[in-house]
Amino acid sequence: MTSRPEVEVYPDAEQAAVAAATAIADWLAAGLDENGRASFVGTGGSSPGPVYDLLATLPLPWEQISVTLSDERWVPPTSPDSNERQLRERLLVGEAAGAAFVPLWSDAPAAEEAAEAAELAVADLFPADVVLLGMGEDGHFASLFPGNPALEEGLDPLGGSFVIAVPAGEPAPAMERLSLTLYALKQAFLTIVLIRGEAKRRIIEDRDDLPIHALFRAADMPVRVIWSP
Ligand code: 6PG
Repeated sequence: MTSRPEVEVYPDAEQAAVAAATAIADWLAAGLDENGRASFVGTGGSSPGPVYDLLATLPLPWEQISVTLSDERWVPPTSPDSNERQLRERLLVGEAAGAAFVPLWSDAPAAEEAAEAAELAVADLFPADVVLLGMGEDGHFASLFPGNPALEEGLDPLGGSFVIAVPAGEPAPAMERLSLTLYALKQAFLTIVLIRGEAKRRIIEDRDDLPIHALFRAADMPVRVIWSP
């Protein structure tokens, strides 16, 4: 079990992104050496973009790498709110254009049905070589939000499902989502939590009651917290 990881401090967001991209590339290369294939779970929000930009320049054998998302907003990939859109625009380009992408969103009638439709293809990517996560100031990761009706299922480390639908809620999320579960995300050879700002550092270091802390307790493999001001 991983106890609370040390917060790794970097001078700025650019150097934090370099550290994250370097670790991701190294662990993908190790997975490819060992298994002939590798899988990477990206995330949404504003933090991962610079990491994707760096990864897309690296000459890895991306045709042997599968990519999916930790979570998705219940919007089509054409939406500016889509995590898939950000990943396609900033990671699945350049050297990484040939990576195999496993989407969470599909044109199913409802998020629950899209979650069911994505389940097997996502499960096939686990154990994942690397998972990249951000974290909200409420301690959420992926789309596992404090107080949300789907949180209990989402944080059940023995739950057995990989993808769930998350209803919009108060205070979050503003829109319905799809999320990988802790049961899925803890099955990673390396998890990187990429965060910025003092408020988020305080969440990591001073609290132990939020979704992110459940990840730390459940993770069997290394978790790195990469932080910059
Ligand atoms: C999303 C993300 C979400 C994100 C956090 C942190 O779909 O928005 O998956 O979980 O990681 O909200 O977002 P920032 O990186 O923008 O702070």
